[in-house]
Amino acid sequence: MDVKKVVVAGGGVLGTQIGLMCAYQGFDTTFWLRSESSIGRTQPKIERYSALMLEDLLKAKALIDNPMGAFMYPKGLIRDWNSMTAEKIDKMAEDAKKRFAENVHIELDMAAAVKDAYIVIESMSENPEAKIGVYTAMKDLLDEDTILVTNSSTLLPSMFAEYTGRPEKYCSLHFANTIWKNNTAEVMGHAGTDPEVFRKVVAFAADIGMVPLQLHKEQPGYILNSMLVPFLSAAQGLWANGVSDPETIDLTWRLATGAPAGPFQVLDIVGLETAYNINQMKPAAQQEGTTEYKIGQLLKEKIDRGEKGVNFGKGFYEY
Ligand SMILES: NC(=O)c1ccc[n+]([C@@H]2O[C@H](COP(=O)([O-])OP(=O)(O)OC[C@H]3O[C@@H](n4cnc5c(N)ncnc54)[C@H](O)[C@@H]3O)[C@@H](O)[C@H]2O)c1
Repeated sequence: MDVKKVVVAGGGVLGTQIGLMCAYQGFDTTFWLRSESSIGRTQPKIERYSALMLEDLLKAKALIDNPMGAFMYPKGLIRDWNSMTAEKIDKMAEDAKKRFAENVHIELDMAAAVKDAYIVIESMSENPEAKIGVYTAMKDLLDEDTILVTNSSTLLPSMFAEYTGRPEKYCSLHFANTIWKNNTAEVMGHAGTDPEVFRKVVAFAADIGMVPLQLHKEQPGYILNSMLVPFLSAAQGLWANGVSDPETIDLTWRLATGAPAGPFQVLDIVGLETAYNINQMKPAAQQEGTTEYKIGQLLKEKIDRGEKGVNFGKGFYEY
């Protein structure tokens, strides 16, 4: 096989972005979807995200002479920023359009979808039963050498390895939202992942324009969320307990660490609904009087007012 075949199971927010990124980098990419109605939901996402990727690519032309350009260009789409010219970007955009048109396929028949796949990337809803159901249906259809990875944010690969029929060829490959700009790929095996397979997944992540970040053992939340979630919780606690206000807390963080954004600016990007869901999963959030309970109440008030973050024009700040 010259061009490796990638299969993405699940055409939601992240699945669509991952598939498009693979197609952009020249991989033959098949979305496996479960029904005609899934196609109806995924096709508009493919159109929307491919348009956003092209838009960000073309916008990068204006960044070439900008001293901040090196921090702002879409890192998943452009590998060598130093040698970039407007003409090169125009050519890349033309190539990208062709690749999106030629390399992206949708298939409902699971056996046909996964045939000859180098890697299957499972990016379905964060629902263990759904994931197990699909792994079980897929396990006898996969070629012997096919690698299987999950993009799950909160579930560990060891929870699913036994259902895949190929535990040694299974691990996590975790992307971040807007992967063409935030091009991290956390690679995390379970105890039974073959180190050679892990190495191949790391190489594959780099081949599709990501920066692979390797974990040496299983960790709920991977590297990023293991740091980010407690950090954001601490900031929300200061706010909910009336210690200080979001603007002052953000200013403190920015001034003292040199970080470009404070925790409440990050929360606006993450979205207040996601922050609320994470908070409500903590048992203390159900006990009146606790910090987590107060955080839940305050976030809910903002969400009910439509102040859900950057994408809604207002969160802790106005946009
Ligand atoms: N949204 C994020 O910011 C983000 C970031 C990193 C990782 N993830 C992870 O990516 C995965 C997908 O998240 P998402 O945000 O794209 O979700 P989503 O809700 O946008 O999409 C989920 C997709 O799974 C499909 N699906 C659900 N059950 C199925 C089944 N039984 N068979 C076939 N398809 C099924 C749905 O049709 C849909 O296309 C999750 O594991 C999530 O933890 C999400």
